[in-house]
Amino acid sequence: MKEKKIIIEYQEYDEGENLSPDDTKLIKEAMKAVEGSYAPYSDFHVGAALLFENGKIILGSNQENAAYPSGLCAERVALFYAKSEFPNEKIVSIAITGKADHFVSGEPITPCGSCRQVLAETENRQASKIRIIMQGERGVTKIVNGVESLLPMVFHEEKLKKKL
Ligand code: THU
Repeated sequence: MKEKKIIIEYQEYDEGENLSPDDTKLIKEAMKAVEGSYAPYSDFHVGAALLFENGKIILGSNQENAAYPSGLCAERVALFYAKSEFPNEKIVSIAITGKADHFVSGEPITPCGSCRQVLAETENRQASKIRIIMQGERGVTKIVNGVESLLPMVFHEEKLKKKL
């Protein structure tokens, strides 16, 4: 038996510290996306903005439902919309932010496990990593280069192939 470690790298920007112009723009778009959120059950509004390699940006927001599991996170709304409408465009980065109705979210909004898995599928399909920029209403911004930093030992399509 061997004890092993996985080290995760991420960038952290203090509140008010300038992000790169591209990241600043994408976070602003994610803030706009928050306005499209439908979250009458959690009162937690999330927006995601995706930047394609060709410079185009698309938005998604969380869409809830009285039958709770039928709702969908902002990230997956954006990612599935991207694949449906722009199937051949590579995604370079995704910015995620949000706000709660009854408290101030002082921590970055990080994608849930299912959204991480969909990000992993997307990266695998397009054969390139996605930069993930995560911000709350206040506090630090965290950035990872590729979903594996959020989902170590990720399950992907190659693992479905039989290896003798
Ligand atoms: N949610 C997102 O849209 N993205 C995240 O990264 C975290 C959670 C949504 C799902 C649900 O509508 C609400 O936030 C509360 O979990």
